[in-house]
Amino acid sequence: MKVSIIGAGYVGLVTGACLAELGNEVLCVDRNVSKIEILNSGSVPIYEPGLEELIQKNSGKKRLSFTVSIEEGVRFADVIFICVGTPPRDDGSADLTAIEEVSDIIAECMDSYKLVVEKSTVPVETGEWVKKTIEKFKRNSAEFDIASNPEFLREGSAIEDFMNPDRIVIGVESLKAETILRELYRPLDAKIVVTNTKGAEIIKHSANSFLAMKISFINALSNICEKTGADINEVAEGIGLDKRINPYFLKAGIGFGGSCFPKDVKAFIHICEKLGYPFNLLKEVEKINEYQKENAFIKLREMLWNIPGKIIAVWGLAFKPNTDDIRSSPSIDIIKKLLKEGAKIKVFDPAAMEKAKEELGDSVIYCNDTYTSATGSDCIVLMTEWNEFKEIDWNRIKKIVRQPVVLDGRNIYDPVKLKNMGFEYRGMGRR
Ligand code: NAD
Ligand code: UGA
Repeated sequence: MKVSIIGAGYVGLVTGACLAELGNEVLCVDRNVSKIEILNSGSVPIYEPGLEELIQKNSGKKRLSFTVSIEEGVRFADVIFICVGTPPRDDGSADLTAIEEVSDIIAECMDSYKLVVEKSTVPVETGEWVKKTIEKFKRNSAEFDIASNPEFLREGSAIEDFMNPDRIVIGVESLKAETILRELYRPLDAKIVVTNTKGAEIIKHSANSFLAMKISFINALSNICEKTGADINEVAEGIGLDKRINPYFLKAGIGFGGSCFPKDVKAFIHICEKLGYPFNLLKEVEKINEYQKENAFIKLREMLWNIPGKIIAVWGLAFKPNTDDIRSSPSIDIIKKLLKEGAKIKVFDPAAMEKAKEELGDSVIYCNDTYTSATGSDCIVLMTEWNEFKEIDWNRIKKIVRQPVVLDGRNIYDPVKLKNMGFEYRGMGRR
């Protein structure tokens, strides 16, 4: 099939590369000229394991190409995936101006049947707006269908998630659209859930909100554990082994971040309120998540007495491991608060340093590795559980720090081992 992807970001690039790998001819479009130049030169503008190789392989086989022209993208394909950003507005609602912009151009340029698929995460009823917009502005009698095909991939394991999904959700209004999408995804041999477009839009917001709720639930519990002397990792195992609960998304820590959970929970709360049903449970999910960052700060003050002038080594800037994405990263929020309180911050992240420089400028010291960042520090704070932070030579650390103090924001270290080595250790709900 001929497929166009509009918006070559984390989702668009992975979708494009994977659909090309499945044998389709794919054209990825982005209005960001420098992004397309990087892609056309054989590099990749984001860090996502395996993506560069997949893009190079499929570009080499002439199944994957890149352009800045949406017009070209519209004319090229039978199926057009909209993968542009839907960032939060100040009131929490999703900013859908990029979706409208793309719908307008599709309407103006379409010259034959098109299946227009929303893959961006959007509030329920966006599909209707896309349909109305294309109907209003199209210049000829070419027919089209709208579908919603939300994406469930996670950054850091995006290709694996796309190629081996738990399910594929397609929200359609016609048999033709359903048949095209079933055919497109046939090689993946995955369970396909078919709904109308509104059902698929609600599924995406619900899935992210539910997962965020699980994280806030375990984070709230971690605070109860800490107050009573129980250990959250043991409690999580004890509840997670119940198949109805399952062990996933029960890791306590400094809170969820990223470009999706925070914005999608907000957008879901907003649309529910607009529809006349305030989803107050989700407001609590947000509050608990905000508290976890504050909680990390409170612990630091308890361990360091005063924050001004203290040197804090921060391990991890990305919102999760295996990505360079720092959007809504708890690490960045906590760093900003510490800087405001007068701390000196030394940071290291295996992939997110360049992106962090755009956000933090010269307010922090950028180090080349964990040991350099720890040298002379009053405290080490583990913010992101990269594998390379799991294998640490603590004897070496003990010799180079100013104070042997560790705040383990993701509960990856052994508290007993560190205490026995003379470190003052705090986790998030550990015994
Ligand atoms: P992103 O910011 O990485 O990419 C979006 C791209 O769209 C950018 O490159 C931007 O230049 C381009 N763009 C914006 N307006 C455009 C226009 N008018 N014409 C052409 N290109 C345009 O965002 P992302 O992380 O890929 O997310 C995209 C959507 O997918 C969002 O709705 C997000 O919620 C959803 N989503 C993201 C993930 C994820 O892991 N990042 C997973 C599932 C769903
Ligand atoms: C999330 C969803 O998992 C994807 O299914 C979805 O497609 C995507 O959002 C999206 O819509 O963009 P992602 O944000 O890439 O994926 O990463 P996750 O692995 O879900 O982690 C999100 C945040 O939750 C991270 O900050 C992570 O540290 C935190 N988290 C996750 C926890 O604090 N505890 C956990 O047990 C799991």
